[in-house]
Amino acid sequence: MQQDMILILDLGSAENPKIAREIRALGVYTEIHPHDITEEALAALPNVRGIILNGGPNRIVDGTAIDAGPAVYQSGVPILCVDHKEQDPWPQDDIERQEVLSKFVFGMCRAQANWNMENFIADQVEQIRSQVGEKKVLLALSGGVDSSVVAALLIKAIGKQLTCVHVNHGLLRKGEPEQVVQVFRNEMDANLIYVDAVDRFLDKLAGVDDPERKRKIIGAEFIRVFEEEARKLDGIEFLGQGTIYPDIIESGTKTVKAVKSHHNVGGLPEDLGFALVEPLKMLFKDEVRACGKALGLPDSMVYRQPFPGPGLGVRCLGAITRDRLEAVRASDAILREEFHNAGLEGKVWQYFTVIPDFKSVGVQDGVRTFDWPVILRAVNTVDAMTATVEDVPFSLLQKITDRITHEVAGVNRVLYDLTPKPSGTIEWE
Ligand code: XMP
Repeated sequence: MQQDMILILDLGSAENPKIAREIRALGVYTEIHPHDITEEALAALPNVRGIILNGGPNRIVDGTAIDAGPAVYQSGVPILCVDHKEQDPWPQDDIERQEVLSKFVFGMCRAQANWNMENFIADQVEQIRSQVGEKKVLLALSGGVDSSVVAALLIKAIGKQLTCVHVNHGLLRKGEPEQVVQVFRNEMDANLIYVDAVDRFLDKLAGVDDPERKRKIIGAEFIRVFEEEARKLDGIEFLGQGTIYPDIIESGTKTVKAVKSHHNVGGLPEDLGFALVEPLKMLFKDEVRACGKALGLPDSMVYRQPFPGPGLGVRCLGAITRDRLEAVRASDAILREEFHNAGLEGKVWQYFTVIPDFKSVGVQDGVRTFDWPVILRAVNTVDAMTATVEDVPFSLLQKITDRITHEVAGVNRVLYDLTPKPSGTIEWE
């Protein structure tokens, strides 16, 4: 391990992730650990230069006073108690906070600002090699940011000892399965099994119009396909996973209640019998992207907007039909191309198209049509819990409408969804 570390002990403050990010912004690595960390666990952490007790000693949580264990006070490293009302008021102003942290981290702890992607990658390559040895690793590679970065890191560390499985369930965006094959098989020379499961998924989904049943079918079928592929392979002992730090933090700790349970990428069950390799589990999302960039992944993969696991399946409303699925895929590609050309890519948090399951009357070249509408959605949010609608220039909406109604078969109308969350959700299903 190359980096110095500042340890944040979890005394039940929801602010810990913010402090962790503030210290990493200074170029110093941090991790959050339970307040009653044992002597052995503390000794096992490399290069701890300082400890932060956010909440201070004897913080009251649910009526009980909690404090750091004796190992912490005996460790001999500098300790900073923040947010302790009587002794050390904690500034709310971001610049003042940076000053306080900076003084502690560099002045008292004498930590080096050596947290960077180059060192992180070098450490992880070493750790992966020592964990895996000569054994083999399997990875479900969806093409999303997290699984793509894990794949790139594992390829760097163990090359052909990794086998990636990409399941094309037919619900991906235009060009995505092709990009996964191009980047990982052709450019990075990875062992990549590409599974064309399009018919299998669409057959299972035929006639199913309930959104939650659609989600369940897609999730369960994904696991079945992945397990079938895993069974065909010999000698796999590890499963790579794109778990990231917020997944772990949000799962809750001893003192902070769970926000949501830890979901693993692709919803793979934990009883597959493999040990896990999770090299991104200490990274925040922006650090995962920086890691992907440092490993040479293309921007279109690293800065990809969020995309739901069930993919276009929840944007083709009601029972999925192949014609409407193609229409939502083609219109989504046009929307993305036009947002890219207008410089909105990376500025708008999430944008996509939705196709409902009703038709309306229109006219084309003097002839009556009876076709599907397409709905455009573009939203901004911080945490996806609430969202506002992007104020897209009217001329751009007109251009996109013109292209979709002329280029996408079976579509004669385009609508723009003006609904924030709440009252709407971001997705329509
Ligand atoms: P909603 O529609 O709940 O979406 O406002 C919030 C965010 O979550 C994404 N989303 C999903 N992601 N599986 C996922 O992995 C899902 O089933 C799913 N449903 C919604 C959505 O795209 C948005 O970013």
